[in-house]
Amino acid sequence: MKEQKAHPTFSSRIGFILVTAGAAVGLGNVWGFTYVAGKNGGGGFVLVYLLTLVLIAAPVFMAELLLGRMGRASTPSGLKKLQVRAGSRLPWALPAWVGLVASVFVLSFYSVIAGQVVAYGFEALKGGFAGWTSAQVIALDADFKSSPLQPLFWSALFIFLAGAVVSLDVRSGLERTGKWLMPILLLMLVGLVGFAALKADFSAGFDFLFGFHDITLSTHILMEAVGQAFFTLSIGIGGIMLLGSYMGDNVHLPKASAWIILMDVSVALLAGLAIFPLLFSANMDPAVGPGLVFVTLPLVFADMTGGAVLAFVFFLLLAFAAFTSAISLLATPVARMEEGGISRKKAAVFLGAVSFILSIATTLSFSSWSNYYPLAFLGLHGMTFFDLIREGVNNIILPLGGLAFALMVGWGLKREDVRAALPIKNRALFTIWYAVLRYLVPVAITALFVTAIIGE
Ligand code: PFF
Repeated sequence: MKEQKAHPTFSSRIGFILVTAGAAVGLGNVWGFTYVAGKNGGGGFVLVYLLTLVLIAAPVFMAELLLGRMGRASTPSGLKKLQVRAGSRLPWALPAWVGLVASVFVLSFYSVIAGQVVAYGFEALKGGFAGWTSAQVIALDADFKSSPLQPLFWSALFIFLAGAVVSLDVRSGLERTGKWLMPILLLMLVGLVGFAALKADFSAGFDFLFGFHDITLSTHILMEAVGQAFFTLSIGIGGIMLLGSYMGDNVHLPKASAWIILMDVSVALLAGLAIFPLLFSANMDPAVGPGLVFVTLPLVFADMTGGAVLAFVFFLLLAFAAFTSAISLLATPVARMEEGGISRKKAAVFLGAVSFILSIATTLSFSSWSNYYPLAFLGLHGMTFFDLIREGVNNIILPLGGLAFALMVGWGLKREDVRAALPIKNRALFTIWYAVLRYLVPVAITALFVTAIIGE
């Protein structure tokens, strides 16, 4: 029998924090957050989002990390171990398997959007959209999407680079990449916000994000806020659990979680503070939807002195954010295959290839399949492949996975075990967190599903 290698750990606390923050900070923070906040009217939505993040997503994030550190294996095996320890007969590994499949699906659409980001970075390098008209920018976006070869090329390149990092061992691949890219990303972001503060309509942007505007709470908005909160923290498909399994025993889990969540929220809010002032000084509409980053922003850059540099910095930042998340998406199934005796390199090549093939479906969703609705027979009219993958993962798989993790920690494992593994000294904080996992999270997620199913 092959000798089992010891499960690796990161070399330092800061390494763990940066890699995990890197997994969390991604397209969701910049592309996703700004368009969802823009579409939902800003301030009120931001408040609901922050509340769901702190009250529901953050406690689940800690639970998922904890499961990882207690399991110290790939996600299905770690959960299986904990199931035995809890003496439960339920299939604990199931959500981890679903998560592994979901990771490959997420990577497949993630790489298409990230690919467009990289392509735009090059475009910025060539001249930065200077003097472009809106027709030109719209055409660039449309041409990019409708010529399947271009997006596929960039998406393949992106997946290839992610695969190259993941095929290395955990410390030289994941840890080193996070340690380099995250600080650079934060510096670039602060630079962009500084620019927006000095040169753009900062107060309008600030007011849009933080001012209180009327918001009518609907189940849809709540679901969108919960989905965004789970997606942004990468909760529910085991990516965080795997990183938890690499976390040293000397790392204070609650404190490290607080840092990571703080970084994630700050990046989203700072991205908003960089983008919305630019939009408002150019009199653009924040509610355009997913095209915000690819159409509206380049137009803003086109008209600005220094726009070329800004555009380049912006797309580079976004590419870094996407990349650190992509490596975490790929690392989760790779870890399981490695446990089965397959080398990391072979696993990365195989899973990268599968994601790439799936990414063709996303790419085509923007061109020849834009009117093809694969699940129309189930009543899901108007949803392309891309919509199905994205919304299916965001609105169904992530919340259900998060729910499963909360139930395992809250109800499955013994309270003393959980407390000792965390470990947390403050009794009150522990009691609140534990109660949130046991009651608030299950009730909130079930309520959301029920209202979504029976309709508003
Ligand atoms: N958190 C990432 C983002 O906000 O873009 C997305 C993500 C990455 C989700 C990794 C899930 C995951 F496992």
